[in-house]
Amino acid sequence: MIRRIVVFSGAGMSAESGLKTFRDSGGLWETHRIEDVATPEAWARNPELVLNFYNQRFLQLKKALPNHAHLALVKLESCFEVEIITQNVDDLHERAGSSRVLHLHGELVKCRSSIYENDIYPMPELGLRQGDCCRMGHQLRPHIVWFGEAVPAMYDAELIAAQADLLLVIGTSLNVYPAAGLIYRVQTGANVIVVDPGELSISAVKGIQHYKAKASDVLPKLVDDLLKLV
Ligand code: OAD
Repeated sequence: MIRRIVVFSGAGMSAESGLKTFRDSGGLWETHRIEDVATPEAWARNPELVLNFYNQRFLQLKKALPNHAHLALVKLESCFEVEIITQNVDDLHERAGSSRVLHLHGELVKCRSSIYENDIYPMPELGLRQGDCCRMGHQLRPHIVWFGEAVPAMYDAELIAAQADLLLVIGTSLNVYPAAGLIYRVQTGANVIVVDPGELSISAVKGIQHYKAKASDVLPKLVDDLLKLV
């Protein structure tokens, strides 16, 4: 019986809201080098470039709306315990109305002290500038987990994944660890469904059901089918 559904989402979840994925053709890492905008070294070398990159994405996000896939997941909460673990730094799950969302890679709508990582603030309306400081006087940085940094929410995410009766993996290439390792935390016997138009890269997990299509084409019907099981 399915009681607890854990959703593990990636950039494909928000693709139909107009936000670019990272590794698809035309994705963000095709036009920006990770080493230039998404590492602590990049921040030390050229903070202006890093701020421009995240400010641009923050301003795009403000214009984006949750899509049918985000909205469908909210409906699951009427009959199941639902936890969303997302690699996405957008807030579209929350804006759709999902109650429990854990962000593994940070949040575009927040910034934090570059010295004290738990000193977190809302992102200023027009994004961050050099010279914007925390209350202790240190430069603020995007609240994003960069490559080479620890993923503080990973421990909680692993505990949540281990309690899933059904893991719904949506729109992720499963290329980035430790996040991608979550799929190996599910208990034997739990169901795993992947929704992604791309090929599966996780042959090691047995019995996966793969819907090879876009999230908003699959999720409304899939959610209705799950609700009928109750
Ligand atoms: P990727 O860009 O690596 O993968 C996006 C996935 O979404 C691919 O598997 C696509 O096939 C799929 N996809 C594209 N359009 C879709 C749609 N309409 N519906 C469903 N799926 C679709 O993005 P992530 O796997 O999320 O981290 O990337 C993981 C991490 O790498 C990100 O969180 C980010 C990035 O570097 C950091 O910045 C730390």
